[in-house]
Amino acid sequence: MEKLLIATTNKGKIKEFQDLLVGLDVLLVTPQDCGLGLEVVEDGQTYEENAGKKALAYSQASGMICLADDSGLEVEALGGAPGLYSARYSPLPNDTDTGRRAYLLKNLAGFPRPWRAHFHATLAIGLPNGSLFFAAGDCFGEIVPEERGDNGFGYDPIFFIPEKSCTMAELSGLEKNQLSHRALAVKNALPLLRKAFKDVQF
Ligand code: IMP
Repeated sequence: MEKLLIATTNKGKIKEFQDLLVGLDVLLVTPQDCGLGLEVVEDGQTYEENAGKKALAYSQASGMICLADDSGLEVEALGGAPGLYSARYSPLPNDTDTGRRAYLLKNLAGFPRPWRAHFHATLAIGLPNGSLFFAAGDCFGEIVPEERGDNGFGYDPIFFIPEKSCTMAELSGLEKNQLSHRALAVKNALPLLRKAFKDVQF
């Protein structure tokens, strides 16, 4: 069976990709599975730059087709922050998801509600020959001041989805995968991935 390398070490994302890509009929492998310990610095100015950089570095190091994502939470009242810096949004180095959520709520405290926000995901598909393809997805909602739910990761417990009347962390994995930014991006990426596996000669 052909292999697709998922260029992330984030366990929450890996689980979501495994569920979202189940129909693709390829074996998903992680950098850890392949013993690949690449350090790719996410210093781009856009989601595309960061995702593309990761996808290319991993596909060239492994010789495999590679799927990388760069995602983030954009909060209107904060001018789109934390955005590209969502994973590092904290004054403390190596802070936890809990610490980052608390910091976001602290920064939002002076603003009137609703605190409109959306999650964004850009996916990059990297081919060993250096080609790159992109797909993206967004999920709209608002930030709420109290954490609710234990599922998911990152900012999920404070991201409220009005149509579902609950936070992202109160959805099951299956439900999140029907509406999340990553789910929509994967839906848009699937035709590109199918074509890549058809075109590339291993
Ligand atoms: P990166 O794509 O590795 O730069 O990390 C994106 C960061 O955005 C994550 O570490 C989370 O903090 C946040 N994020 C991205 N997607 C989600 C999601 O589905 N739920 C909650 N937080 C997310």
